[in-house]
Amino acid sequence: KRVGVLMGGLSAEREVSLKSGAAVLKALVEKGYNAVGIDVGRDLAEKLVQEKVEVAFIALHGRFGEDGSVQGLLELKGIPYTGSGVLASALAINKIYSKIVFKSAGLTVAPYQVLHRGDKPSLNFPLPVVVKPSQEGSSVGVSIVREESQIEAAVADAFTYDADILVEKFIAGREIQVGILDGRALGAIEIVPKNEFYDFEAKYTDGMAEHILPAPLPVPIYEKVLRAGETAHACLGCDGYSRVDFLVTEAGECYILEVNTLPGMTALSLLPEIAKGSGIEFPELVERIVLASSL
Ligand code: DAL
Ligand code: MG
Repeated sequence: KRVGVLMGGLSAEREVSLKSGAAVLKALVEKGYNAVGIDVGRDLAEKLVQEKVEVAFIALHGRFGEDGSVQGLLELKGIPYTGSGVLASALAINKIYSKIVFKSAGLTVAPYQVLHRGDKPSLNFPLPVVVKPSQEGSSVGVSIVREESQIEAAVADAFTYDADILVEKFIAGREIQVGILDGRALGAIEIVPKNEFYDFEAKYTDGMAEHILPAPLPVPIYEKVLRAGETAHACLGCDGYSRVDFLVTEAGECYILEVNTLPGMTALSLLPEIAKGSGIEFPELVERIVLASSL
């Protein structure tokens, strides 16, 4: 079967996606697949026909790719694709709606409020708070606000990405991420960023974040975060694979941040690193994701 690796796209994470796509394409070719890279634009429907794509590997991140829109197009075209379907993708990328589902599944979420564009920001929490657009990835538009004077700029910045934004109580915790493959947790990794938090720069600059695998947590907390990752993946209705991000406090509370239905697949990315730690090398990970693709 001819596999089209969908990459690039129209989101703020385009550059990241091009790297994910290139790594996936290389792995598929190594594994002997007939694979082609496709840079996704508004003409995707035509390109899928031109390139005779029979299965789509979605290596997109963010809007128009991770949000269910491309998944919907592929459903309409009858082309099987990797990862989660339309509803799970749309829920997972939206930090407002995913929190509602997480809470109903018994997961711990940081207290938050929603602001709509045009609202006057009146805060429900004392500082510090975290301000973030409801639907972005790679920490685009995210700020930690520690002083009153910074709030206006942080809110304005988040609103440049989205008409709905979140203001969350700041949770002091360790960044722990859980890799999920076929619904099961493969392991958890700790990220120790050199910046104030694991922001865009720390995510994609070599040496800006230390990765510790497995995450050095007490065994009961490690187990708890793995189970919480599986619950999060399942409660949104995700398929195939994902990476679930948490903040774990000193007291062992696991605050869920989000489920990434199309986690980064670059050389510095975490899901491939977690998979490797559990004995699954990158080409095998990519192949397992393709083999699980469905319609
Ligand atoms: N949004 C980026 C690609 C990630 O979660 O890895
Ligand atoms: Mg994300």
